[in-house]
Amino acid sequence: MPVISFASSKGGAGKTTSAIILGTELAHGASVILVDADPAARLHRWSRIAPLPDNIEVIRSEGERAILDEIEDAAQRAAFVIIDLEGSASRLASFAIGESDLVVIPSGEEQQDADAAVETLAEVAREGRARRRDIPASILFCRTSAAVKSRLEKHIQGQLQAAAPVFETQLNRRTAFSALHNAGAGLRDLDRSEFNGVDKAITNAEAFAAEVVDMLTKEKSDAA
Ligand SMILES: Nc1ncnc2c1ncn2[C@@H]1O[C@H](COP(=O)(O)OP(=O)(O)OP(=O)(O)O)[C@@H](O)[C@H]1O
Ligand SMILES: [Mg+2]
Repeated sequence: MPVISFASSKGGAGKTTSAIILGTELAHGASVILVDADPAARLHRWSRIAPLPDNIEVIRSEGERAILDEIEDAAQRAAFVIIDLEGSASRLASFAIGESDLVVIPSGEEQQDADAAVETLAEVAREGRARRRDIPASILFCRTSAAVKSRLEKHIQGQLQAAAPVFETQLNRRTAFSALHNAGAGLRDLDRSEFNGVDKAITNAEAFAAEVVDMLTKEKSDAA
């Protein structure tokens, strides 16, 4: 049922990777439909590399005229719908954000990332105003270093924490995450002799998925 969009006005922020991580994690306990709403179709490409479990379906969106029907249909069929958007504002992105129960905004730790995240938050707020409802959005730090933060990194994080909710979990920069684009499927399917740190990546991904579920549950109870 819930619709989760990954949005950011910056290309390469980590939307597709984080959407794959969330989708494959949630699929351990529920059905998931991933909608590739980016013409570059990297999510769709990932889905064709290796077999996926039966409860994951990947749909390639037909574009802005079709997206509302695609979301409605997916929300009726799956426990979670995850939409991977392109890295720039578009009517399609606006439509998807307007239908979302949660918008995840991935961000790195550079000023450009923070600026793009703030811009995306403003876009979500505008969609919310147009639809007269609050659209929950949360920043996800990704591609971050697991090491101690520099002053600049702390400054950027502080800036974004002041602007919006931020996931406590960060998807650190890990080879196991980027490897998914080449290996296909999920973290548990990676060849451990080929990639380091798979277990840490799994723990990291589980924490992110649990936080998303908590956030959606909290929203539902707040709305009741
Ligand atoms: N947590 C991570 N750890 C390691 N590499 C990552 C992580 N997140 C993203 N990357 C890498 O960074 C690059 C950009 O990530 P990704 O494609 O997910 O971004 P995007 O926001 O979907 O980009 P676009 O706007 O172009 O669609 C990719 O090469 C990906 O493998
Ligand atoms: Mg992408």
